[in-house]
Order: sequence, then C-alpha cells, then structure tokens
Amino acid sequence: MEAVTARTVGLGILGHGTVGAAFVRLVQQQADAIAARSGIRLEVAKVAVRDASRHADVLGAVAVGDVDGVVGDPSVHLVVELMGGIEPARRAILAALAAGKPVVTANKALIAAHGAELFAAADAAGTDLLFEAAVCGGIPLIRPLRESLRGEPIRRVLGIVNGTTNYILTKMTEDGAAYADALAEAQRLGFAEADPSADVDGHDAAAKIAIIASIAFGQSVTASDVHTEGISRVAPADIAMARRLGYEVKLLGVAEHDRGTHSVSVRVHPAMVPRTHPLASVRDSFNAVVVDGDAAGSLMFYGRGAGGGPTASSVLGDVIDAAINLVRGAHASIGALVAPKVRPMSELSCEYLIPLEVVDEPGVLHAVTGVFAHNAVSIRAAEQEGAGTGARLVFLTHDANEAAVQRCLAELAGLDVVAHVGGILRVIPE
Ligand SMILES: NC(=O)c1ccc[n+]([C@@H]2O[C@H](COP(=O)([O-])OP(=O)(O)OC[C@H]3O[C@@H](n4cnc5c(N)ncnc54)[C@H](OP(=O)(O)O)[C@@H]3O)[C@@H](O)[C@H]2O)c1
Repeated sequence: MEAVTARTVGLGILGHGTVGAAFVRLVQQQADAIAARSGIRLEVAKVAVRDASRHADVLGAVAVGDVDGVVGDPSVHLVVELMGGIEPARRAILAALAAGKPVVTANKALIAAHGAELFAAADAAGTDLLFEAAVCGGIPLIRPLRESLRGEPIRRVLGIVNGTTNYILTKMTEDGAAYADALAEAQRLGFAEADPSADVDGHDAAAKIAIIASIAFGQSVTASDVHTEGISRVAPADIAMARRLGYEVKLLGVAEHDRGTHSVSVRVHPAMVPRTHPLASVRDSFNAVVVDGDAAGSLMFYGRGAGGGPTASSVLGDVIDAAINLVRGAHASIGALVAPKVRPMSELSCEYLIPLEVVDEPGVLHAVTGVFAHNAVSIRAAEQEGAGTGARLVFLTHDANEAAVQRCLAELAGLDVVAHVGGILRVIPE
C-alpha cells in the first residue's frame, strides 16, 4: 500500500447501498471539518459495487471496482465494509487486515457469526477492526461498553434493538391493530422489508444481542447461542391484558451474566416490561439499550437504530478513530474473548403470561388449572374474556421454571377443551 502521506487517508468502501451511499455523502460533506479538527483528510479512494452502471451518476469521478480490486488498491489505506452478508465480506475483511489496513464494518450478521476470528486477525495484524454501526445503527453502544464501561461489572443488558418490531408492537399497543395489519403498515411505510422474517422472527435482534453479550461479558457469543422467538404470535388482547397489569410488551434482547458460574443467558423474545422501566416508553421505530452495572447502576442508550444517515454517522466516527490510529501507528483491541458458557433456556426462571383459547363449557377451568398445578406452575392472576367458541383464558404465573412451563404448554395443547395455546410473554423484573 502507498504510504499514508500528508495525513491523507484513502478509503476503500465496499458497498454503495443505503448505508454506503449515505457514508460517501457524509465524508464528502465533512472532510474539511474533520481535517480541521483531527488533522487527517479522509478521501474516498475507491468504491466496490456489484453493478457499477446503477451508481455511475452518483459516484461521478470516484473510481469503482470489484471487492478484491478495492481492498488491494494501493491508494486504499482503510477499508469500510458496507455490503452485508457473510461472503465475500469476511474474506475481504481478512485480506484487508492481513495487508495491515484497518477495517470499519456495519455488518452485524458477520460480526455475530465470525467476530472472534476477525478480532483475532485484527490483533495479529496490529490494526483496527471497528464495528459500532453493527449494533443499533446510530446509537453509540459498542464504544461505551468496550471503553467507558471497561471496568464495570455488568450484570444485565436489556435492549429494544430492532426498530421494525418496535414499530409493529407500538401500533398493536396504541391502535389495537392485529399483527398482520401492523406489519402491512410497517411495510407500506418502509419500516419493514418485503420479506420481514429477519426482523419479525427475531434473527436481526439475536445477532445484535450476541455482539453486545460478547463485548459486555468477554465471551465469544454467536447468534446461534441466542434463544430466539419473534413477535408473530403476540395478540393485541394479550398486550391489552399486560397493560391492565402495569406492563408494556416489547421484543427484547436480553443478556445476563451470572458471576458465580461465569455463565451467560442470551435470548430474544417478546417480554412484559414494567411501565416504570425506561424501556417501556420507547415507541415507534426507536431503539434503546439499558446496561445494568454494579457500580454505575442503570445506563440507557436511546436513538435511531437504523437508517442510512444515523448508521453512516456511526461508521464515520469509527473511520476517524481508525484513521487517527493508523497515522499514529496505534490500534484498539477487543481483548481476548473466552469460549462462551451459555446457560440453557430450560434453567430460566421468571413470571409468564400464558393465553389460551378454550371451549366455554363447565369443567374447563378445572382441567386447565390441573395442568398448571401438577407441573408446579402457580398462578398469580387469571382473566376470562368472551364466551362460546372464542373464549380466552389468560394466566399470569408466579416465578416459574422455563422447562416446567414448556411441559405445561405441551399438555395444555393436548387438552380437548383447549382450542389454541397463544404466544407466551415473559415478564422482566424491574
Ligand atoms: N440499512 C440500515 O439501516 C443499516 C443499519 C445498521 C447496519 N446496517 C448494515 O450495513 C450493511 C449495509 O446495509 P445496507 O442497508 O446499506 O445494504 P444495501 O442497501 O443492500 O447495500 C448493499 C451494497 O453492497 C453492494 N454489494 C453487495 N454484495 C456485493 C458484492 N459481492 N460485491 C460488491 N458489492 C456488493 C451492493 O451493490 P449493488 O448496489 O451493485 O447491488 C450495494 O451497493 C449491512 O451489513 C447491514 O446489516 C444497515
């Protein structure tokens, strides 16, 4: 690679989509101000896309190439990966690091699946791999976790880390909309993709909470370690019942650390959040993450978790840091991550909201509560709604063991008097 001269750092940008295009615009707008403040001039040296003809009018004089050509170009000192997906992003990042070029990426899927390998490659090469934008777009979270909270014993991280599902649940809560109608509106407004499964089934949130858990607890948690449930089984009637009990329903990423066993519990599921908790008031497509530490107490990070502008802003912050480090011959490090010790979901204990559609006839309540009783799941509150074939029974349990609740649900589904077992909601303690 050409030497970094006169503190000009050439950027090779892989991808020119929602984030890539916003990032190129931001660099071009901010280059003078960044140079005045940091003494480093950022220059977009080369951009990689699949189909150059679709970007010609926007990129103008900026050189365009394929991924390998951009990474290997001598005028590229620092690589910004904004393509998404696993390959060729992983291969390109490893090649850049091996060539001593720092990398900034927004790729949550890649970091959640291959973070440990990539962090080790960056350390071995003595260069930066920064990924603030991979978790919650424009909200600073990774840097506070890895720098400001480095000495903090973190017990728990709770996050609304997916804007699409928060928008859908807000519509279901405030307008009483059915799940399918709220999803259709989110798609019409551009908050949800045509194929919404990565968001509504919880996989996007799982990748983010895996990365958060890795940084917060120093264990290489991957998305496959995360117990993941989406929001498609949440009913407006259950949200209404949760609200009568003093809770809001949110899709949460939860990461907990048990100091005694050094084990972690990492999961994504719809949850009942006490109305007094700061996450309860996070509406629409906003994201927020609450970090609970022993010394610092509770900290909340709130803002736009996605979108070209917020995400590009976060990428640019990392790029400036990595460029300064490059010029100084320094680099940041995640430090060693140990193999994860993941607590099985079956060991979880919490309160549960369990909705049932039942036939409305004598003896139903007796049959249903009998199943709860012999599985040692005790009931804190119950409500009946409607009559006849559409009758619903909704139970709120006391603290119960997940394995016992799952046995209970399987038995309830087998009862003649139960027409349908709805989606459960787990209650988050204050
Ligand atoms: N969008 C957000 O709000 C957001 C928020 C946080 C993080 N992120 C992350 O940011 C990354 C980019 O997301 P995005 O929404 O900007 O994606 P996008 O709009 O789909 O853009 C992807 C870009 O990458 C290019 N690309 C894909 N595969 C390529 C390949 N094999 N070779 C060359 N170029 C390739 C595409 O080229 P063509 O245009 O030629 O097809 C396109 O320009 C992802 O990792 C995503 O998870 C996005």
